[in-house]
Amino acid sequence: METSEPPHSAAYFGAERDFWWNQDYLELLARRFDFAAVRSVLDVGAGIGHWGMLLASVLPQGVSIVGLERDPRWVAEAERRRGRREAGARFQFDQGVAEALPYEEATFDLVTCQTLLMHVPDPQVVIGEMVRVTKPGGLVLASEPNNAASFLVESSFSFGTPVEGKAEAIRFVLVCERGKMLLGRGDNRVGDLLPGYFVEAGLTQVQTYMNDKVELMVPPYSEEGQRARASMLAEFSNKGLWCWHREEAHEYFVAGGGDEADFDPVWTRLLERQQNEVASIAAGELHTAGGNIHYIVGGWRG
Ligand SMILES: C[S@@+](CC[C@H](N)C(=O)[O-])C[C@H]1O[C@@H](n2cnc3c(N)ncnc32)[C@H](O)[C@@H]1O
Repeated sequence: METSEPPHSAAYFGAERDFWWNQDYLELLARRFDFAAVRSVLDVGAGIGHWGMLLASVLPQGVSIVGLERDPRWVAEAERRRGRREAGARFQFDQGVAEALPYEEATFDLVTCQTLLMHVPDPQVVIGEMVRVTKPGGLVLASEPNNAASFLVESSFSFGTPVEGKAEAIRFVLVCERGKMLLGRGDNRVGDLLPGYFVEAGLTQVQTYMNDKVELMVPPYSEEGQRARASMLAEFSNKGLWCWHREEAHEYFVAGGGDEADFDPVWTRLLERQQNEVASIAAGELHTAGGNIHYIVGGWRG
């Protein structure tokens, strides 16, 4: 498994990630999926622990949570974050790969992941491993998006702009997604396919919901989550990132069948639009309801 790829996740591990879920909605999930029965948890592709730490707030006291992560940098950072938290003693972070989980069959009551399956070459292999290490009667739970759908969501900035610019961005994303998949780096739209994959993996009573959190932006952006999002967008713009780093996007675009000669002109226009959007936020003008597709899919091991 490669670990020397561009640190894509680094751009997405900022404060904004702490605001992905409404607390009352997590409590609803805990009731729907009967978290009261859970004693042991595995969070696969844990990154620096955001998902496991959020879930901990709605799991019974004393539940142990193991985070499994491929990249040693994130394992070390997750350990540091754990040390700063009151509930830190409940966590353990291990290094390993999702395709060959280093745990015995039937070890955990709950095996979960968030935005992992969108990055792996074969999500069904990973789901198979997640099922294997789940105890009979235990729950497999995945939180994954279709990120391409977000490009059809309007803001006061994009609304009314030419159709051609919007179509260009969507085409660019779809070509890159095809390249990303062909290169074995997953597909950011995988969420749409998860209920089917769960059924194929032999999970029962498969339930599918959507996260009810929006990426709301309304001036004066007084909520902490909106300010974190504004900072993230400004950072993306400053660093010349648009979904991906330039090199990563270029690799995906070409692998996806995009014409090499098209890349730079399109990339420049996308970055320009992003800069203007960030300027519109800085001016306190941009607003959007910020809809996005992010699923939560759960199924039980029989
Ligand atoms: C987008 S991050 C999500 C992190 C965390 N689940 C969260 O929601 O904050 C995806 C993480 O999965 C890890 N990852 C990707 N492929 C993996 C694999 N095959 N096995 C284990 N971890 C993997 C990446 O290193 C990264 O930390």
